[in-house]
Amino acid sequence: MAKVAVLGGGGWAIALAKVLYENGNDVTLWSFLQKEVDELTNDRENKICLPGIKIPEAIHITNSMEEAAKDKEMIVMAVASSYVRSTSKLLKPYVDEGQIVVDVAKGIENETFDTMTEIIEQEIPGVEAVVLSGPSHAEEVARNIPTVVVVGAKKFKVALKVQNLFANKVFRTYISPDRKSIELGGSLKNVIALAAGIIDGLGFGDNTEAALITRGIKEITQLGVEMGGNAKTFYGLSGIGDLIVTCNSKHSRNRRAGVLIGKGYTLDEAVKEVKMVVEGAVSAKAALELARKYNVSVPIIEAVNQVLFEGKTAIDGMWELMEREQTNEYRDLQWDE
Ligand SMILES: NC(=O)c1ccc[n+]([C@@H]2O[C@H](COP(=O)([O-])OP(=O)(O)OC[C@H]3O[C@@H](n4cnc5c(N)ncnc54)[C@H](O)[C@@H]3O)[C@@H](O)[C@H]2O)c1
Repeated sequence: MAKVAVLGGGGWAIALAKVLYENGNDVTLWSFLQKEVDELTNDRENKICLPGIKIPEAIHITNSMEEAAKDKEMIVMAVASSYVRSTSKLLKPYVDEGQIVVDVAKGIENETFDTMTEIIEQEIPGVEAVVLSGPSHAEEVARNIPTVVVVGAKKFKVALKVQNLFANKVFRTYISPDRKSIELGGSLKNVIALAAGIIDGLGFGDNTEAALITRGIKEITQLGVEMGGNAKTFYGLSGIGDLIVTCNSKHSRNRRAGVLIGKGYTLDEAVKEVKMVVEGAVSAKAALELARKYNVSVPIIEAVNQVLFEGKTAIDGMWELMEREQTNEYRDLQWDE
């Protein structure tokens, strides 16, 4: 049995705490929010994010970072991505060199463009920062619905250790050394999921959405490869896998926000209605700036930014994408004649 901690009290933190507990580990769940700690302790449930899922009594819930973080074999960072930096600062005093911290939050920080493991490494030098990502909704993981994810780490031994702690019959876990691409795929897909929701909200069909997913992964891959990632990873679980689940699933908050925007809501109105952080909106800005920096053409990401932040109507954004110059699917493929 290993002592592990999960930082965060939302749906993903609870689902992963449950996986780790069911694998026989001693689990502590930490939240920054005292109100959340009180509710989780009293109700043994997050009634908003994960209704109907009971947190096992043996999982200790605390607001004390010292209690949560000290002497743990693995710490899982499962707060919303905008709090990964502040939570890493709180964590730093209680961990030693080589501490394994597994990020499961998805996002790219605005302005710095840092990924979550990069933020963790900056705030806690000497840490072994790992990512776990893939097509995995908390609502399904918490109900033991078969799920497959990938763990990305710099060191093989560290990846193996994390794989062993998480893996079970219903939670299959691959490992990979391509941490950067895993993180980029997991963040950028939220932007495309917003676009998929917008298309649905506008009342378009399955053809339109399938086209968006396909052209969307192409944008993500091209940008990711320019940034030093490996194309294969973008066609794997954390890339196309996560993109498919996010674009198609009723559980996806980014998609749900997109549907509302397609129906005419502003971004603020949609976020209020969804009642959760819509990370795709944050990543959309970072993705566009990165694309400009690396000189990659990303028409879908650009259109999402125009609709979210520049007052373009969703319907105009959609038609402008369709009316772009007709061209080759892949410009680098050669013609016989
Ligand atoms: N929910 C899912 O199915 C799922 C699946 C895979 C990955 N993720 C990723 O995991 C992360 C967490 O997602 P989620 O759905 O559990 O919740 P969320 O993104 O809605 O985050 C809410 C949680 O963040 C924490 N938080 C809020 N304010 C904070 C603060 N000031 N400081 C520190 N922590 C604070 C709280 O514990 C709160 O419950 C996100 O980055 C998400 O993209 C979620």
